Amino acid sequence: MEHAPTGGPPQAAPPQPAPPEVALIETNGEVTLSIGGEQAMQAWERDLMWASADMLCRHGQDFYEVGLGLGLSALRIAEHPATRRHTVLELFDEVEELFRSQHPELPPTLGIERGDFFRRIHELPSESIDGMFFDPALDMDVWKDAELWSRSMAEVVRVLRPGGVFIPFFSTKPELRWQYVDHFRTITVERHTYQAYDTTEYTYGTSGNAYIQCFHKD
Ligand SMILES: C[S@@+](CC[C@H](N)C(=O)[O-])C[C@H]1O[C@@H](n2cnc3c(N)ncnc32)[C@H](O)[C@@H]1O
Repeated sequence: MEHAPTGGPPQAAPPQPAPPEVALIETNGEVTLSIGGEQAMQAWERDLMWASADMLCRHGQDFYEVGLGLGLSALRIAEHPATRRHTVLELFDEVEELFRSQHPELPPTLGIERGDFFRRIHELPSESIDGMFFDPALDMDVWKDAELWSRSMAEVVRVLRPGGVFIPFFSTKPELRWQYVDHFRTITVERHTYQAYDTTEYTYGTSGNAYIQCFHKD
């Protein structure tokens, strides 16, 4: 918790932006997590989330994840026999509340913490995790901020143990993401196929190849 500076009157906290509306929308068998009116996550991604989770769990026992969403990857990682501890970072209370209402019984290996990745990464202890699964839904201006990525990915490498891995959410283009690539020497890629919903807005096309990229810390 932050404290007001001593020696003066208590300072008013800066106004916080209103939290976006979070809703679980189920129509015609399609499941969408909507955040602020945008498609943040859809249930058709399940097999890709599970494949990413299984890849992560081949690299150790203590894991960290950014972005809870529907919790598909979080539950898969937490329930994997290899997992000792899995911590998930989520930005919004409402997403966690929705997840907990859908899953009242959580595996004992799973912890959920609140925060923004770009702040929290600086607080995590060095060489404390074997792998990070990275699946936040970010605004385009954040994706374009080269300086932010350079700083944040250096921190990801610091937090990983030697031999640890960083796995971002799949790409539907066969391209290594510039945000991560300069920070790792060894990268493995697994190709899968995917079939999204006709209504999916956030993929290039609604079917085809999806590439799961695994960045290894030497
Ligand atoms: C695509 S969803 C995650 C889907 C998840 N992998 C699953 O299997 O359901 C993205 C999540 O990241 C969260 N998020 C967005 N920006 C974030 C940030 N800067 N730090 C932490 N979480 C963030 C969103 O609120 C949302 O819950």
